[in-house]
Amino acid sequence: MHSRRALLYMPGDNWKMITKSITLGVDSVCMDMEDGTAINKKAEARAMIAKALQELDFGKTEKLARINSVGSGWEKDDIEAVLPHHPDGIVIPKVESFDHVEWASQIIEESELKYGWPVNSVRVLIGVETARGILNLKEIAAHPRLDGIIFGGEDFAASIGAIRTKDATELLYARQAVVVACAANDLQAIDIVTIDYNDIEALRVESEFGARLGYSGKQIIHPAQVEPVQTAFTPNDEAIAHARRIIETFEASQKEGRGAYSLDGKMIDMPLLKNAQKVLERARAAGK
Ligand code: COA
Ligand code: MG
Repeated sequence: MHSRRALLYMPGDNWKMITKSITLGVDSVCMDMEDGTAINKKAEARAMIAKALQELDFGKTEKLARINSVGSGWEKDDIEAVLPHHPDGIVIPKVESFDHVEWASQIIEESELKYGWPVNSVRVLIGVETARGILNLKEIAAHPRLDGIIFGGEDFAASIGAIRTKDATELLYARQAVVVACAANDLQAIDIVTIDYNDIEALRVESEFGARLGYSGKQIIHPAQVEPVQTAFTPNDEAIAHARRIIETFEASQKEGRGAYSLDGKMIDMPLLKNAQKVLERARAAGK
């Protein structure tokens, strides 16, 4: 699965930002037709994203296009404008039911057959960011086409009438529900945007907290956010060395017939081994 530590949005009608985004070494770029694009610019965004997909070399950066939500009235024109140019993936926002994913999934599959592309070569990511979406997470997250779930903090706060705070305690229940649904279905979990893009320290704190919750990546909106977020979602050298040590000592301890043992005065057993393996998996996915 493509590593998506940082997923950078820009309005789909902004050519300057699209061309800039491919110079940043960011994991994923998401050209937006939804809320980042003004209502009177939807058609322009569709045409510009199609042009970008045809003309620009994104290198290792994943190229995604976000359509408007299913039921908005724009979604069909959005997906039809970009799909023929084979984006790496489609992002569907504000998903509230399995059927929303299924709608896009069928259209994508038709294109894959029509153009002779490998099945599943266009990935599907979804935003679950409304009260109804969180309630229906169990069914939604089980859709076989999915690659990852994005949690939209601002949309969710608006959906339930929460007041946003810096430490985001008002989002915690839904933010954790998304991680659990992702883990249960082997999906990537992509965390909230830090909208105060000038406050890099706050971004680091929020990113590290998201990583501690179990998120594998984070949405971003500005070039200055790329490095702090990619760093926060890459296990550091210390974490990697510790994970390796657990794996080595665990094996030896098993051979000696001990399921639980002590390392530096702390108890180690199976769940800690599994967590250590996850750390190394994430490090490998990030190219470390
Ligand atoms: N992607 C690529 N490049 C971006 C960018 C983005 N999301 N945001 C800013 N840039 C570029 C600017 O074009 C500018 O380029 P330049 O130095 O070559 O002129 C540079 O980065 C510095 O930008 P800055 O002046 O600090 O920001 P701004 O005032 O132009 O824009 C925002 C601020 C928030 C409006 C802008 O970052 C943005 O639109 N972000 C994406 C919002 C979005 O897509 N929201 C929907 C999803 S949540
Ligand atoms: Mg949103």
